[in-house]
Amino acid sequence: MEQFSGKIAIVTGGASGIGKSIAEHLVRYGATVIAADLQFKDTESSTDKLEKCYLDVTDAEAVRQLVENVVARHGRLDYIFNNAGFAIGSEVRDMNVEQWQRIIAVNLQGVINGVMAAYPQMIKQQSGHIVNTASLAGLIYQPVINAYSTTKHAVVAHSMGLRLEAQQFGVKVTALCPGYIKTNIYNAAVSNNVANDAFLKLIPFPMLELDPTVEKMLAGVAKNKALVVLPAYGKIVYALHRISPALANLLSKKSLGDWRKVRN
Ligand SMILES: NC(=O)c1ccc[n+]([C@@H]2O[C@H](COP(=O)([O-])OP(=O)(O)OC[C@H]3O[C@@H](n4cnc5c(N)ncnc54)[C@H](O)[C@@H]3O)[C@@H](O)[C@H]2O)c1
Repeated sequence: MEQFSGKIAIVTGGASGIGKSIAEHLVRYGATVIAADLQFKDTESSTDKLEKCYLDVTDAEAVRQLVENVVARHGRLDYIFNNAGFAIGSEVRDMNVEQWQRIIAVNLQGVINGVMAAYPQMIKQQSGHIVNTASLAGLIYQPVINAYSTTKHAVVAHSMGLRLEAQQFGVKVTALCPGYIKTNIYNAAVSNNVANDAFLKLIPFPMLELDPTVEKMLAGVAKNKALVVLPAYGKIVYALHRISPALANLLSKKSLGDWRKVRN
């Protein structure tokens, strides 16, 4: 992971889960990290190598100012991890417009705000790497997490198209598409008409340990992979959706059936 050494990186959603682990790993690999999150207060303790700052990724101007400030102080920006996000478990019929607006604002517009702030600087440098946290849910079609999956598909589409455009400017783009990882996202998730603990019990795969999974994702970033899909079940499910959508739909219908058994 020596290529992260001496680099300057912004990580959004850096106060918890995947973002926190990415930030800590990058510091261990020798990078200087600016972790940005709604949960950080202005007075949050920072060190030379790990700065913590308040940021709402839905605020495009604040994201732009953060990038400008980092470049002014550090001279460049090597990585931006657009990672902040949250989940909603819900059938579409139970969603309201405000929930749609919020999840699109954070999970999709939040990523785009990071790209629009960092990409011009990276073009100027003729170097840099944009890493967007999508999800396995951004590669397959699933009922019950439709809103979440919709935003993650958009993040994958955005990332893959941008990767082609950015290549000419020496800028790399990667989308992270992990399966289920043990973080706070499931406790923090909104679930409509199903108790949160019942929602958690419906998750069809064992939860991945956070730090080893983040290490593997960062190894994929270091290799400049377009998509980092993991673990093995993620690769199999993704392949199944491409090879046999009909079979994949049968599995998805089973998940929907299980959800409806516990829906109020
Ligand atoms: N945990 C999983 O199983 C999993 C799987 C695939 C993808 N993901 C994605 O990984 C990313 C990180 O999720 P996590 O599992 O670490 O969850 P988490 O809840 O532990 O961390 C998410 C962080 O994002 C921050 N955040 C939320 N809205 C924000 C905003 N508007 N501005 C700034 N920060 C904001 C939260 O405060 C929190 O610290 C998300 O995009 C999520 O969709 C998670």
